[in-house]
Amino acid sequence: MIQEALKALRKGEMVLVFDADNRERETDMIVAAEKTTPDHIRVMRNDAGGLICVPVSWENSESLGIPYMTDIMNEASGRYPVLSRLSPHDIPYDEKSAFSITVNHRRTFTGITDNDRALTIRELAELCKNKKHHEFGDLFRSPGHVTLLRAADGHVTRRRGHTEMSIALMEMAGLEGVAVCCEMMDDRTGNALSTDDAMKYAEEHDLIFMSGADLIDSYMEFRS
Ligand code: 5RP
Ligand code: ZN
Ligand code: CA
Ligand code: ZN
Repeated sequence: MIQEALKALRKGEMVLVFDADNRERETDMIVAAEKTTPDHIRVMRNDAGGLICVPVSWENSESLGIPYMTDIMNEASGRYPVLSRLSPHDIPYDEKSAFSITVNHRRTFTGITDNDRALTIRELAELCKNKKHHEFGDLFRSPGHVTLLRAADGHVTRRRGHTEMSIALMEMAGLEGVAVCCEMMDDRTGNALSTDDAMKYAEEHDLIFMSGADLIDSYMEFRS
């Protein structure tokens, strides 16, 4: 299963990952940032419907110097006290939000189109792959339309979100530590898509579906 998922990711295909029954209970579509095309963004928008986000490995996040949004808010709360009152200390399914800043590549127009978002995402992966992290501010602007997520130090050994699981997949596949994920929503119920329906979607579209537990087991084995 994991080998098939890694093969799919290397080919630029999406895989579906359900986190866990004791967490968000969400299935995310995941694809490698370096392989992202406008088609992926269109499918995520239309078929997944959640927020299209870009998990960035802890190492790349450090090299880029991107903060957690919560750290920015803490820093700015002296001037804007409401920011500390908005603290997300009560997330029902995890200790900490992975949200970082939002960006657009400077070569985009509005930044939101499928073409623009795919460009921003691919260029970020390229920049990291080429170790040009110091050029980040020259080539990208913020705020933008691509939400970056900061993976925890230690990745899935420290936090078991789709952010860290996406990066674990990239690492095992030998791809750059930047990914794209989007939650699958149910158009009929207004809730997250059920696991059964996510599995059905995977079957119908010839995609790999994995549970977070299997993914993390494979990663632990890979690291040992
Ligand atoms: C951003 C999210 C998603 O759930 C995404 O999967 C990343 O978050 P996490 O790492 O907490 O699973 O909330 O849209
Ligand atoms: Zn979520
Ligand atoms: Ca839809
Ligand atoms: Zn998630």
